Amino acid sequence: MSEIKTIGVFTSGGDSPGMNACIRAVVRTGIYHKLRVMGIYRGYEGMIDGDIEEMKSSSVSDIIHHGGTILQSARSQRFRTPEGRATAAENLRQAGIEGVVAIGGDGTITGAKVFSAEHKIPFVACPGTIDNDLFGTDYTIGYDTALNTAVYAVDKIRDTAASHNRLFLIEVMGRDAGFIALNAGIAGGAEAVLIPETPTDVSGLIATLKQGWDRKKSSSIIVVAEGDEAGGAFKVAQEIRRQFSHYDTRVTVLGHIQRGGSPTCMDRVQASELGNAAVRALLNGEYSVLLGKLDGKISKTPFEKAIKEHNDINMNLVELVKVLSI
Ligand code: F6P
Repeated sequence: MSEIKTIGVFTSGGDSPGMNACIRAVVRTGIYHKLRVMGIYRGYEGMIDGDIEEMKSSSVSDIIHHGGTILQSARSQRFRTPEGRATAAENLRQAGIEGVVAIGGDGTITGAKVFSAEHKIPFVACPGTIDNDLFGTDYTIGYDTALNTAVYAVDKIRDTAASHNRLFLIEVMGRDAGFIALNAGIAGGAEAVLIPETPTDVSGLIATLKQGWDRKKSSSIIVVAEGDEAGGAFKVAQEIRRQFSHYDTRVTVLGHIQRGGSPTCMDRVQASELGNAAVRALLNGEYSVLLGKLDGKISKTPFEKAIKEHNDINMNLVELVKVLSI
């Protein structure tokens, strides 16, 4: 067991449902192991500003069911500079912090990797992002909730699509990843799904829509990830209207509605397990690793690998969309 007596915890990057459950697990596991736990507010920004406060067990009461993050979050430009990181390191030392749990996505882990190597402060990370795009874990905290929010929205839009004989393009989040789009598309019975991981063939898409029209298909739904190479749902809709004007074509961008809301059971349980595992990793001297779940078991992936490699999209699911949309 290590000599660590005080740990810090923070959330960074885009908030995701379940981050609170993870903070709660870190704080209470830390206290269970007789550690002092410090909450760092607003991610790396708060680290630079010294916005750090001791957390008690009661600090995390009544938060497990809330979306967002009680520690708040930020995307910090100042942390990209050596000066910003030096100030952050000094503030952590002043607060007596000897190990840190970072909760966030790839930007957060990249920051943690650079910072902990530069200033010799032990870090571990929990995967907090709705995008599900981190290597070394099958699920990221918040993905399940975001996915269910997207499916719920697709279902509602389907009612209007069917009632008005319309084609709807629904844009979901995912700048670099199509996990939400692909799975929400399958669960929502979409005719097509456009994602950043696969080439987008708008002409092929229009041919499919024409076939559907000829078969008297009166409404259609296409789910588009925001990072799709065609440039998002509005651009695709524009092209469809230009080449095939039979449908009354509408666009709905779900946006940040996918990031909020009460986390699902799965996100709460997973966040609790990962937060607990993160503190135990610090106590065992296992640093610079991303905690995750692989095949149902807790996994530890070195930061280096978690950042460099990518979670592959399941190509069987891409095929499945085509098969099921005939
Ligand atoms: O990484 C999570 C995410 O929600 C992405 O899906 C999205 O592209 C991005 O964050 C949006 O970030 P912001 O809220 O900073 O605009």
